[in-house]
Amino acid sequence: MSTMPKTMPKTEFATDLSVTQAGDPSRAHPMMPFTRHDEAARHAHVVAFKNFLMRQLEPRWRTLIDEKVAPQMAQSGRDAATEYRELEKNLGTVPAYRAWQTLMVAAQDEMWRSVTESVDHSLPELQRIEAANAALGSVRINPEFKAPRYLTAVDIHRMPGGYHADQGEGDLRQGAIFDKAAALYHMGRNGGAMNDLRGHTIAQHFFDRFESMNAENPPKRILDLGCTVGHSTVALAQNFPHAEVHGVDVGAALLRYARARSASLGVSIHYSQQSAERTDFADGYFDMVVSSAVLHETSAKAAPAIMRECWRLLRPGGVMIHLEVPLRFDASAWNRVRGWFESVHNNEPFWIGAQKTDFAGLAAQAGFAEVCAGYQPSVRQADPTAIPRFTSTPGPVHVVWYMISGIKPQA
Ligand SMILES: C[S@@+](CC[C@H](N)C(=O)[O-])C[C@H]1O[C@@H](n2cnc3c(N)ncnc32)[C@H](O)[C@@H]1O
Repeated sequence: MSTMPKTMPKTEFATDLSVTQAGDPSRAHPMMPFTRHDEAARHAHVVAFKNFLMRQLEPRWRTLIDEKVAPQMAQSGRDAATEYRELEKNLGTVPAYRAWQTLMVAAQDEMWRSVTESVDHSLPELQRIEAANAALGSVRINPEFKAPRYLTAVDIHRMPGGYHADQGEGDLRQGAIFDKAAALYHMGRNGGAMNDLRGHTIAQHFFDRFESMNAENPPKRILDLGCTVGHSTVALAQNFPHAEVHGVDVGAALLRYARARSASLGVSIHYSQQSAERTDFADGYFDMVVSSAVLHETSAKAAPAIMRECWRLLRPGGVMIHLEVPLRFDASAWNRVRGWFESVHNNEPFWIGAQKTDFAGLAAQAGFAEVCAGYQPSVRQADPTAIPRFTSTPGPVHVVWYMISGIKPQA
């Protein structure tokens, strides 16, 4: 008698190897690069692999460090939470940790490599779709533009070429790679293949905190700083359908792709290649300026400059909202070790710096009033009529986001 179960046990991330181009569920919009059969298997493998490393193995490191190593160090008068850099380095000599560390890096590198395969054979078709939607939105590229050093010194997230790579006129490749990888990177938790959870969460934060403004005078001009391929920008445009929406970022290929992606979704957005630290928009042009997961990829000097630029760009009474990763520099030794891992092995140099930065203080210094920092629960779809849920209670990444918001005072 067969001992095989009648149905295969369900895994959290089922791999549908029968996936075809036409039926590929990851093709959430026309500009999404196509996935061939073998590539789909590799993409599913990356997600399963990351899931195993981060959800099954990582909690064991947390328990070991916070409950065993830190108390042991304390007994000999040492503080694991302040020695997090040395601890991470020393853990690298422990074979099990070394294996986990190496596999984490390998999963990330395999993610970029496998999506690049899909992008490279999709590019001719993506260019055709881009041209077919050329009339919607705009993109301004500045051939003289130099991306800030904090974005070029390392390939952030180990993405080969970083955000700024560009092969010249018409190139879409870096944008297509970022878009295709994003859902794998987030393991689907940032709004599935649309990756728009953060954009909806920013809109919800606006509805939660600035309800009366929304009712009386909803934003007519919105700017998304560090928009990448427009994942959050499109969500903002959908929540404020009468607004003129702009996005800025440093990469020409990201921005060309962002325009084409937004247009293929029927959304008109104006993208331009410039630094969030200093843009060419007129003083007071915007009613709302936002950023989503950008500040932690800047620097200690750039973050206050961005706050000051937000102040300049807003009309009196306008609203600034920054969404950030919800991890702060708390007392958990593992959180700090993990933060350092992110800095050195996932090329996020300002990761710990951002956790330590008092962004609300920077906003107040820039001149903002009614500044608040706290946690906004994620929403798949923002709802202006929902009961406000902005809170001071922290939570895990993707479940909540750290928000810093304020108003430019009336003169
Ligand atoms: C993690 S991505 C943001 C993703 C996007 N906002 C979203 O919500 O999907 C960070 C982005 O910030 C951009 N960025 C960082 N510093 C910037 C600056 N000074 N000017 C413009 N863009 C910047 C990077 O180029 C990158 O595209």
